Amino acid sequence: MRAVIIENNEVSFKETEVPVIKENQMLVEVISAGINGADLLQKKGGYPAPKPWPQHIPGLELSGKVKYIGSAVEDFQVGDFIMSIVGGGAQAELAVAEPEYSIKLPAGLNPIKAGGFCETFFTAFDALIIRGKLNPGDEVLIVGAQGGVGTAGIQIAHAYGCRVTALTKNFDFKTRLTEIGANQVITDIGENKYDVILDLISGKGLSDRISNLKTEGRYVVIGVGAGFKAELNLLKLMEKRAVLTGATLRSRTKFEKQLVAEQIKRSLLKFIEEGKIDVIVHKTYSFTNAYQAYSDFENGGKLGKLILVNEKYSDAGRLNDN
Ligand SMILES: NC(=O)c1ccc[n+]([C@@H]2O[C@H](COP(=O)([O-])OP(=O)(O)OC[C@H]3O[C@@H](n4cnc5c(N)ncnc54)[C@H](OP(=O)(O)O)[C@@H]3O)[C@@H](O)[C@H]2O)c1
Repeated sequence: MRAVIIENNEVSFKETEVPVIKENQMLVEVISAGINGADLLQKKGGYPAPKPWPQHIPGLELSGKVKYIGSAVEDFQVGDFIMSIVGGGAQAELAVAEPEYSIKLPAGLNPIKAGGFCETFFTAFDALIIRGKLNPGDEVLIVGAQGGVGTAGIQIAHAYGCRVTALTKNFDFKTRLTEIGANQVITDIGENKYDVILDLISGKGLSDRISNLKTEGRYVVIGVGAGFKAELNLLKLMEKRAVLTGATLRSRTKFEKQLVAEQIKRSLLKFIEEGKIDVIVHKTYSFTNAYQAYSDFENGGKLGKLILVNEKYSDAGRLNDN
C-alpha cells in the first residue's frame, strides 16, 4: 500500500507495509483523512504518535470502508462505511481502526467530508460540552474560529442553542462563519462577557481574555498556536469563580476516548442527520499531493478543513459502487 510518510521533517506519499490488525481491530480502506495541527507538529519532530500506532504515517482521523475485521470485533462488518479517530496512520490507503471509537457513516454526511470529522468534532465536543459544560442559551466565544475545530465548535454551540461569537483574524470569512451558526463575527475581543470561551490559539492574549468571562464562566484551552505561556491574574479567576481548564485528545486512554465517542453518537449524530452540522472543507487534495496540502496548512488562511483523499474515492458518488 501507499501512505503519507514523514521523513526528515518532510512528507511524501510512497510504498510501505500493509498494517497488521489485532483481533479487536479493523483494517480500513481509507476514503479520506483530515489534516490537523498535530500532523504538522509531528512532521516537525514533535507530538509523536502514542505506541503502537504508526510512528511515521500521520493522520488522526479517517473515513473508509472496512476491509477486514479481527475475530473479536462485534459491531462492524466487512463492507461497512465508517469514520474513526485513530492514534496515527490515517493518511494511507489502508489504516487500522478500533471499533470503540469508530462510527458508521451517518446519513447526510458526504464520505469525503467524513474523513475530517472525528478528530475535529471529538475535540470541539469534548472541549465545549464536557469541559465547558455548555448549556442552551449560553454566550460562547470561540477564539481562532475559522479553523477546523473552530468551525466545528461554532456549529456544535449553535446546535445546542447557544449564542455564538466567532473571533477570527480574517474578516473575509464573516459571511461563511455566520452561515454556519455564528451570531457575531469579531476581529477584536471588546468588552462582551461570555459563559464559555474556547481558546484555540492561547498565547499572551489569554490573560486579557479571562476578563471576558462571566461569573462562573468556563475557559477551555485546547490550542497553543500563539504560545503556550501566559501571565495570569488569579484574582480575576477568584472574583468570577471561573474555571480554567484544558485538554488533549490523542494521549487519552482507550476508555476515555470511547466515552467521548459514545456521547457523540448519542448527542451529535442527530444534528448531522438534520443538516445542522457538517464538516466545513476548505480544500481537498489527493494523497499524492500531500506535500502541497501540508504546505498550504502551514501557510494558514483557510476556512475549515484540508482533507486528503484516496484517488480511488476521489468521486464520492462512486461510494456505492465499491
Ligand atoms: N487539544 C487537542 O486535543 C487538540 C485537538 C485538535 C486540535 N488542537 C489544536 O487546536 C488548534 C486548532 O485546531 P484546528 O484543527 O482548528 O487548527 P486550524 O484549522 O489551523 O485552526 C486554527 C485557526 O486559528 C487561526 N489563528 C491563528 N492565530 C490567530 C489569531 N491570532 N487570532 C485569530 N485566529 C488565529 C488560524 O488562522 P490562519 O489559518 O489564518 O493562521 C486558524 O484558522 C491547533 O493549535 C491544534 O493543534 C488541539
